[in-house]
Amino acid sequence: MAQTLSKPRLKQKYRKIKITPRFCYFRSENLENQSDFATEISYSLTRKNKFIHPKFFYDEKGSKLFEEICVLQEYYLTRTELEILRSIKLEMANHLSGDYALIELGSGSATKTRTLLEILTRKQKSVEYYPIDISEILKETSENLQRDYDNLNIMGIIDQYEIGLKFIKKLSIQNQLIVFLGSSLGNFNLEENMKFLKKIRALMKENDLFLLGLDLVKDTKILEKAYNDSKGVTSKFNLNLLKRINDELAANFDLDKFEHVSLFNNEEKRIEMYLRSKEKHEVLISAINLALKLEKDELIHTEYSYKYTVSGIKDMAEKAGLKPVKIWRDKDNYFALVLFSIKN
Ligand SMILES: C[S@@+](CC[C@H](N)C(=O)[O-])C[C@H]1O[C@@H](n2cnc3c(N)ncnc32)[C@H](O)[C@@H]1O
Repeated sequence: MAQTLSKPRLKQKYRKIKITPRFCYFRSENLENQSDFATEISYSLTRKNKFIHPKFFYDEKGSKLFEEICVLQEYYLTRTELEILRSIKLEMANHLSGDYALIELGSGSATKTRTLLEILTRKQKSVEYYPIDISEILKETSENLQRDYDNLNIMGIIDQYEIGLKFIKKLSIQNQLIVFLGSSLGNFNLEENMKFLKKIRALMKENDLFLLGLDLVKDTKILEKAYNDSKGVTSKFNLNLLKRINDELAANFDLDKFEHVSLFNNEEKRIEMYLRSKEKHEVLISAINLALKLEKDELIHTEYSYKYTVSGIKDMAEKAGLKPVKIWRDKDNYFALVLFSIKN
């Protein structure tokens, strides 16, 4: 299943946790009591085409596995995007006239964010950083960042992107640099993709900027290897979803009865990831009272990762009301970083 935009929750309660005078974060109680996870899993695993939402990849183990994926030889995405970010530091600085707050969607380990923080913390007396991530990794990452940058203040939001954006909207921040890296937009299907870009557009004011990292269409072999690495880390990352359901919802998935599948769908221009049941069997998910029947070779869909072309990015931006200020690419045309504003 692709990422889907979250529907407003009926009850939303947040805890504010202050770690240091320069770092606090908000965390939804729905994440704490697992209610979102249980509700979504009981829906998604009882559809005709079973799926697990990709946001559930990122429990503690999943976030660690993702960091391992980022340094794999086959996973060109992270090092290529980082290489572009490093090469455009000066140019980026020139686009930022005045002080900017940094808002990041899916901040993760914030390795790439550091290139931007270096620009901002050198130029500005102080920098406000608002990372939004569903993963607990936000805490450790933010503690490290505020230790490394004396003039950085961090207010994190541990929740889904859309909820984080609602928080940000309420703050009415002047001059925002919003960043969404890692081609995570590609996890949405094309319709959700557009809705999401429009949400970001709605948040932007005249001087605001939006930096988006997107993976480009390329040779199928290169793409498929990136999601099917020789060390089997992506396979572990995918299978960890089942382990998470075992641990958090008292299920008895036998991981040996599943295999990781990833392929490039050339027509749709997307990598599709699945878990394939190797035999007909039944799994019990006690916390949601579900006896799950799986056929031999049945697929559970876990992720889409759309790939883009530069003309496609421009069309998409225009439809969302975003104006590309600059498009940077690496020498092999593997990856694009696009800076948008709303001004003509
Ligand atoms: C592919 S990783 C990218 C991390 C980092 N930005 C990078 O470029 O390396 C996606 C990040 O977004 C977070 N994430 C995934 N789905 C999310 C959602 N629906 N809402 C909020 N965060 C999400 C994950 O926890 C993870 O840290």
